[in-house]
Amino acid sequence: MMEMQLWHPLSRDDHLAEAPLALTLLGRSLVLWRDASGQPVLMRDQCPHRGAQLSMGRVQGDSIECPYHGWRFDPQGACVGTPAVPGFKPPASHRACAYQVMERHGLLWGTLGDAVTEAPVLRGLAERRLVYGPFDVAVAAPRVVENFLDTAHFAYVHRGWLGETSHAEVPDHEVTHTADGRPLIERYKAWQPRATAAAAEGGWVTYRYEVLSPYCALLTKQPDDGSPGDSFTMWTSPLDAESCRVWMGQYTADTSTTEEQLREFQLTIFGQDKPVLESQRPKRLPISGGEVHSAADRLSAAYRRYLKNSGVTCGVC
Ligand code: FES
Ligand SMILES: [Fe+2]
Repeated sequence: MMEMQLWHPLSRDDHLAEAPLALTLLGRSLVLWRDASGQPVLMRDQCPHRGAQLSMGRVQGDSIECPYHGWRFDPQGACVGTPAVPGFKPPASHRACAYQVMERHGLLWGTLGDAVTEAPVLRGLAERRLVYGPFDVAVAAPRVVENFLDTAHFAYVHRGWLGETSHAEVPDHEVTHTADGRPLIERYKAWQPRATAAAAEGGWVTYRYEVLSPYCALLTKQPDDGSPGDSFTMWTSPLDAESCRVWMGQYTADTSTTEEQLREFQLTIFGQDKPVLESQRPKRLPISGGEVHSAADRLSAAYRRYLKNSGVTCGVC
């Protein structure tokens, strides 16, 4: 599974406090906690002793304590205490399974493999950052990413906001690729009734789309009237093959609209997408045929080819 070698978002950095956090990634149960110095730690949520969930335990200084017999494990997974046998020096075989974890873009990211790939890098975005989520979506992560890259749905799903049926036509645009093969649209023109939280009336907007990784993408939108532009990241994390957890990052040049207004706008848009996404069958994204395309689907088709070439198996069929 190539997806084991990717970095996946797990939690907002500011959502992980002291208590251990249980989560799922690629069908595995994991626990995220912070050691005494505040460093995040990611482990399999299963005690090597009798299989109890470590996330039901508690953090004790630099170790996590299992709720069942109180065995303690350090951030590297080594067993450092077995209260029922105080003098016992636990051997290496008693270790819990620990994984790599790091902070990036306001989120904590983890990998279940050796992380041969780099986590997505962002360059040149506006400084004001907001992070939305988590949102759990009952459809495969690649379906959510493809929706994020899809513009032909604006006039229907986001009617009156990002599109209007009188402007349903997808204009001519070109899909290219980055040097490492990620699909890209440098320039895409859309007419939008209400392009941003601050927009008072309809207008033309220039979009740029970039696939960042199999489960992540970036778009930048710049209103043609010169009002402040925004970039959005779609960070999806495959919980399993048919469901995912999603966060969005917004990087905005708009310094006057309140955080509340920006959030409300974005949650409205995502709230329009979610029921349609969850209605899609199959829940996995078909990358080997089975769905039909139109000329408006060039970026989705390129994304599907990219997924196929990348070798990911989770969330596709
Ligand atoms: S199951 Fe964890 S200490 Fe026994
Ligand atoms: Fe949408």
